[in-house]
Amino acid sequence: MKLFLSSGEVITASPQFSLLKNLKNNGIHIIAPCGGEGQGVCGRCKVIVKKGKYRTRLLDKLSKKERSEGYVVSCQTHLKGDLYIEIPRSSLLETEGVIAGEISKNLNKIFNFSTIDISPLTNEIYLELPEPSLADNISDLERVKRGLSEIGQRNINVPYRLMRDLSRNLRYGNWKVTVTLIDTGYTQEVLRISPGKRDHKNGKYGLAIDVGTTTVVIYLVNLTDGKFVDVATTYNYQIIYGEDVISRIVYATDQGGLKELNEAIINDINSILEPLKKKYALSEESIESIVISGNTAMTHLFLGLDPAPILKEPYIPTASIFPITSAGRLGINASPDAPLYTLPCVASYVGGDVVAGVLATKIHKKQEISAFIDIGTNGELVVGNSEWLLAVACSAGPCFEGGGLAHGMRATAGAIDSVKINLDTLEPEITTIGQGSPEGICGSGIIDAIAEMYLKGVITSNGKLRADASSTHIKTAAEGLEFVLYGEKDNEITITEPDIDNILRAKAAIYAGFAVLLTETGLSFNEISKIYIAGGFGRYLNVEKAIAIGMFPDQPKNKFMYLENTSILGAYLCLISSKLREEAEAISSMMTYVELSNSDKFMDEYIAGLFLPHTNLSLFPTVKNMLDPNIQRGKSI
Ligand code: FES
Repeated sequence: MKLFLSSGEVITASPQFSLLKNLKNNGIHIIAPCGGEGQGVCGRCKVIVKKGKYRTRLLDKLSKKERSEGYVVSCQTHLKGDLYIEIPRSSLLETEGVIAGEISKNLNKIFNFSTIDISPLTNEIYLELPEPSLADNISDLERVKRGLSEIGQRNINVPYRLMRDLSRNLRYGNWKVTVTLIDTGYTQEVLRISPGKRDHKNGKYGLAIDVGTTTVVIYLVNLTDGKFVDVATTYNYQIIYGEDVISRIVYATDQGGLKELNEAIINDINSILEPLKKKYALSEESIESIVISGNTAMTHLFLGLDPAPILKEPYIPTASIFPITSAGRLGINASPDAPLYTLPCVASYVGGDVVAGVLATKIHKKQEISAFIDIGTNGELVVGNSEWLLAVACSAGPCFEGGGLAHGMRATAGAIDSVKINLDTLEPEITTIGQGSPEGICGSGIIDAIAEMYLKGVITSNGKLRADASSTHIKTAAEGLEFVLYGEKDNEITITEPDIDNILRAKAAIYAGFAVLLTETGLSFNEISKIYIAGGFGRYLNVEKAIAIGMFPDQPKNKFMYLENTSILGAYLCLISSKLREEAEAISSMMTYVELSNSDKFMDEYIAGLFLPHTNLSLFPTVKNMLDPNIQRGKSI
């Protein structure tokens, strides 16, 4: 059966699989927050059927208007014949790709490649060895080692697996061989011995891969000059086993699902790698090195390591610095012996993605004190300079990624990303990502909205909607009061009191983590010269609004700097430079992790932070000045 897309693309589809899966199998990725298998619960994977026969369910997830326009939930829809469909832009998983693509476009400009020593994981040496004779009758292996030693490469380990083909390769190449050395950081080891001179007529490429909890991003990199070639992204389909790292670890442990989770992520990587290979006509053998970055749990699941101890006190990962393995061993469709390097972790909840972030921001090279914040379902914070680095991790929950909110969605097209409320009329004014019609609200949008609602007197400092605020936008719903941001009956985007509670808890955790870091160092926020914000969430974030709700400290706006996906950036840097791989390992070793799970100080700060902006308003003088004394607020102010 055929699936005709409004873009003109035609794909062969199987009625056995859902529309979502058919599209995924053809490299078209639809936003599928609940993973789209089995029952499907989120209703976000919508597409529009224009013509053709199909069977579908989960219609209650669609509005009346959507149903009349032909919308279906793609993970619950199967073809019964050829089908003509349109994929709304808001359903396409493109934002992360766009973000990753936008930075990557600049990568080749940002880095002065003439100053970077391009030293990938492998290094090739061409040797012309003397033919053996009765007078020169050392063994084949000794001959290769002698050849290497003569050009200064000593103490090089040649693994046993190369022995079987060694004599054949030497004689086939007429004693001319290419020895590929792998740089493990500590030793040099021979990866392969190939007859003759390797010509790389198909190119020599590497992959930098960010294994995020929600998305996976790949950079294809030319290893000859270190330059970025292209980017590909997809969902991390482990999401069907659990939305956050904790539920995935539980699944891997309690239900013996480690193999399933491992296969899911490897399939994801291969599913986006294949179209890249096709686009650039790359053979499997031309992909020669891989670097992976991810949080500690994702790294374990990717490498097939038991993540159970991460969850149990005293929270110990299997390793912090991981031995180099190979693409073939993990099932990635690259050259089977391509070395695979994993960014080192620091602790169970501070992973290689944070080390990558520090590497990319160069905090570890600066004298002044800087901070690094990566916010997703977990918030990771690092403070330090060239002499010390201190890190904490705090659970923010899924709300900054749109999860757990009545009308939450990821920061993709159609998400409300900014809100202004008119002080006199309390009418909201919204903007959306992509300027299309609003479909929901993303993390940065809800921070904006809550800050405005607080500053304009719509909610009290403890996050309760004020029924007495004269606004037609405040309504009573099943779960209490809610504020209507957009739309009319049956098609409204609202912010409910439970949404506000979720955000208050998440922002209190971030601020408390930051405050504990400073207490540990005896510093004040004023002594931090730069605050780097990483992650897709930060892209649309209005820092002043984040300060207004008390998520970030009350510091001048120019101290904050948004940095996109630093995890992939760090992986990229480690792919092209051995010096930067060494730096990543040095960062992992010098960073001290502060455990918050039994910290009284954290708990005190957290409770104090459950107000807007904070129980102690004097910590937020700018916000205090923004409050209009004429606005009557709830009792708690
Ligand atoms: S209902 Fe289809 S992905 Fe959630």
